[in-house]
Amino acid sequence: MSAVGGSALEVRGLEAGYGKIQVLWGIDLDVAPGEFVTVIGANGAGKTTLLRALTGLIPIRKGTASALGVPLRGRTPAAIVRSGVGHVPEGRQLFPLMTVRENLDAGADYLPAAKARAERNRAFVYELFPRLRERERQLAGTLSGGERQMVAIGRALMTDPKLLLVDEPSLGLSPALAQAVFAALAQVNADGTTVVLVEQNVQRSLQLADHALVLENGEVRLRGTGAELLAHPQVKEAYLTL
Ligand SMILES: Nc1ncnc2c1ncn2[C@@H]1O[C@H](COP(=O)(O)OP(=O)(O)OP(=O)(O)O)[C@@H](O)[C@H]1O
Ligand SMILES: [Mg+2]
Repeated sequence: MSAVGGSALEVRGLEAGYGKIQVLWGIDLDVAPGEFVTVIGANGAGKTTLLRALTGLIPIRKGTASALGVPLRGRTPAAIVRSGVGHVPEGRQLFPLMTVRENLDAGADYLPAAKARAERNRAFVYELFPRLRERERQLAGTLSGGERQMVAIGRALMTDPKLLLVDEPSLGLSPALAQAVFAALAQVNADGTTVVLVEQNVQRSLQLADHALVLENGEVRLRGTGAELLAHPQVKEAYLTL
């Protein structure tokens, strides 16, 4: 999609880690408004750590990052959500003893403005995932893995994000359900939301991507369009051999 000016995400020399362990060693990343960007990388490459640093869950130790024109460093997760950044975290992180609908509405609670638009946003989520409307009153802890992933994406959409960061949504899903989740992300992107997707389902996530990068040991190893990386010998050898 075309950019309206400005940048959805701009990351320069970002370093982050846990205690004495440094994980990310100077990440640069530019995402234009409306783009779909995919980050691929093996287990432990630092993909989740990158999303955690961008959403304020762990500190940015060095470097800068701004989303939608607003600096991220030093801001709380709630403030970052309020500025228009949605996060679908690794492992879904739902409230198991709350219903589907309560989990969705917990997303809107973050943002007074979104609360006012909760009905409309919920209707959008149910249109995207009709299964969730049927399961509205079911406890999230009793949902299937795929349904839980739909709730996790839906909950982030309830905040009306301009930029959506999604961590391995296809993990543990059947191929058919993974396709449904990817199709939903493509639709959200077509509706104007910028998407940064972290994935190990390389084939599909690179097909969807305008731009993509390969993360290895906390550094960016390769960059290109989704199509370029799909055809790249190193990507084929390391990620498409299964
Ligand atoms: N809370 C933590 N405390 C200490 N080290 C951590 C913590 N979380 C992650 N790490 C380490 O940071 C490195 C990067 O982990 P990260 O979760 O970012 O990888 P990933 O690319 O998301 O991998 P995966 O594909 O398996 O989810 C790993 O070596 C991991 O062991
Ligand atoms: Mg991860």
